[in-house]
Amino acid sequence: MTTQPHGAKADPIEVDWSWTASDDDWVPPEIDTSKPSTARMYDYALGGKDNYAIDRQAVDKIAELLPDLKPVALANRGFMIRAVEALSRMGIDQFLDLGSGIPTSPNVHEVAGVHRATTKVVYVDNDPIVMTYNRALREPRPGVLALNHDMRAPATIFEDPALRAHLDLERPIGLLLVAVLHFVQRETALEVVEQYRRLLPPGSYLAISAICSDGMEPALVQRLESVYQTSSSPLIVRTTAEAEQLFEGTRLIEPGLVDATQWRNNETPLPIRILSGVGQVL
Ligand SMILES: C[S@@+](CC[C@H](N)C(=O)[O-])C[C@H]1O[C@@H](n2cnc3c(N)ncnc32)[C@H](O)[C@@H]1O
Repeated sequence: MTTQPHGAKADPIEVDWSWTASDDDWVPPEIDTSKPSTARMYDYALGGKDNYAIDRQAVDKIAELLPDLKPVALANRGFMIRAVEALSRMGIDQFLDLGSGIPTSPNVHEVAGVHRATTKVVYVDNDPIVMTYNRALREPRPGVLALNHDMRAPATIFEDPALRAHLDLERPIGLLLVAVLHFVQRETALEVVEQYRRLLPPGSYLAISAICSDGMEPALVQRLESVYQTSSSPLIVRTTAEAEQLFEGTRLIEPGLVDATQWRNNETPLPIRILSGVGQVL
């Protein structure tokens, strides 16, 4: 597991795969390889090894238009890391990471742990391969819990006795919805985010990143939508105005809603735009 501190100064991000490679006893779960999984496609884009031919073929179809997808995935991870760092510095010591993805170092508990060793993290995902890795690699760490839930069911997640025992629901939480809402239908996403806003303790924050069509080549948007149509979750590409709606009922912290490459960072936006922001729940 990597122990190096992470932050704006550490960019470009180095992904440390020894963290997953160290677990030799891992047994693959029942995995559906009849269609690409969004979690495994993302893992492949990041340069990971937890993916199958069907996932690689799907990503390679996108690569016909945009040969190098890794910088896009790293830009999104960069936003997540800087958001967790910023919230940790502001005193947040509990994170709920919805759509956590296959473990990728630095993970949320590693980033937050640099600031405060006692930080609690709950990872939630509904993909079996993610849950297997979460339980094997993330959960054994102090302060970490992994749960198998669909993030579209906020009440079920907040009623889970394991979550209630792990997090203090009287104190602020950093809710991470990083690169997951673009797998949720527009109306459902708005309803779900509103429910989270109501369930979160006062003083909590939402960190959201989602693919945005503004600034993207229409052919690339179409290719992304058509490739993900065959996957475990179709892709919903939002306009900036639609992404802004996700932050209703929150006060955006600096620098507002911007591309992942620009959030407390100064890199050139990439061909796939990922609007990113952190809002304090009002
Ligand atoms: C692109 S990955 C993002 C991983 C991580 N949040 C990041 O940004 O690096 C999207 C993850 O969301 C998960 N996911 C998609 N729909 C979900 C849902 N309805 N409930 C829970 N997880 C979901 C997928 O399984 C996948 O692991």
